[in-house]
Amino acid sequence: MVDKALGGAGLRGQVAGQTALCTVGQTGSGLTYCGYDISELAEKAQFEEVSFLLSRGELPTASELAEYKAKLKSLRGLPDALKTVLENIPKDAHPMDVMRTGCSMLGNLEMELDFSQANDAIDRMVALFPSIICYWYRFTHDGVRIETQTDDDSVGAHFLNLLHDKAPSELFAQVMNVSLILYAEHEFNASTFTGRVCASTLSDIHSCVTGAIGTLRGPLHGGANEAAMDMIQNFTSAEHAEQEVMGMLERKDKIMGFGHAIYRESDPRNVIIKKFSEKLAAEVGDDVLYPVSVRCEEVMWREKKLFCNADFFHASAYHFMDIPTKLFTPIFVMSRVTGWTAHVKEQRANNRIIRPSADYTGPDARSYTPIESRG
Ligand SMILES: CC(C)(COP(=O)(O)OP(=O)(O)OC[C@H]1O[C@@H](n2cnc3c(N)ncnc32)[C@H](O)[C@@H]1OP(=O)(O)O)[C@@H](O)C(=O)NCCC(=O)NCCS
Repeated sequence: MVDKALGGAGLRGQVAGQTALCTVGQTGSGLTYCGYDISELAEKAQFEEVSFLLSRGELPTASELAEYKAKLKSLRGLPDALKTVLENIPKDAHPMDVMRTGCSMLGNLEMELDFSQANDAIDRMVALFPSIICYWYRFTHDGVRIETQTDDDSVGAHFLNLLHDKAPSELFAQVMNVSLILYAEHEFNASTFTGRVCASTLSDIHSCVTGAIGTLRGPLHGGANEAAMDMIQNFTSAEHAEQEVMGMLERKDKIMGFGHAIYRESDPRNVIIKKFSEKLAAEVGDDVLYPVSVRCEEVMWREKKLFCNADFFHASAYHFMDIPTKLFTPIFVMSRVTGWTAHVKEQRANNRIIRPSADYTGPDARSYTPIESRG
């Protein structure tokens, strides 16, 4: 007998291990990294400080941060063999597949030979992921081979510069910084858990991240911001949005960018990115997408008590910064690689192979039927 409750429970509420990296839905605003509240990090920190915190366990001093940022800057150049691979991926490929292949190829070229090299491998991925996606995107969409070794101060500004071929405004760079902080870490979510399962076999760090990217790709996880964008851009006004959302609810459609497996009343990241979406709307003169998004939020709460997760207002925020929708989830990768790899190191530090069991629901034991006797 298939136990629907068990099969459909998705391991919800079960503790599957320990972590010192993150709390979700427990203290402060509801999300902390190594004890620091997300609202404080988003307001005061640079993404590179958060990245350092996750890989080294403590916030950097001023000189450590300067050294770390200089190191990241020096690691933005793509190896020729990786450029060749990226140039051979078709224009209509899914950008998350580009990230997955890019990460995997990097693992072939710069293998993590032993675990003592983990931080160097992590720094390289943090520095190189924006280069990977932008090199492919600009080559296949604009027909240019871009130079990825830039002098931009931050990972977020570097990404926008490569994408748009010009240094971003202060506000755009700030929004990217905040966005990368918000997405950096989130406890035992599906992609992180994938990375930890892979790490528990004592595999290499590029394999762990490649698997995590594949898991993040799905619309129930990282792909939700793209799906949210696809939805809101069809709405021409707040009234139209309300009408359509009501129809979707009636048809029991899933509305992307709403709900969460752990949070019950709100996602602490939403209030932060929503504020920046509003700021960007004013900056670019939008009077449709932001009011549409706000109306969706109101209707979903009024009708279903469902709230925006981190992805919903990220959709409009990224759109206002002229980022193509299909690059939304790769930005998530550029950020979450810091959380994934911190979990890989944590798993390695106190490891036992992750190997749960399943309740068997198949046929009773039976004997093998020779092929000539099968109907
Ligand atoms: C995130 C998500 C996968 C969590 O799934 P979950 O833990 O199974 O969700 P819940 O247990 O809270 O769901 C409770 C009910 O609300 C419904 N629901 C949850 N999210 C919904 C959404 N976005 N739109 C419509 N209905 C939703 C569920 O279908 C369920 O209804 P049911 O009891 O009639 O089956 C789910 O909310 C979802 O699919 N959201 C859209 C995708 C998304 O934004 N993902 C990014 C997550 S950060």
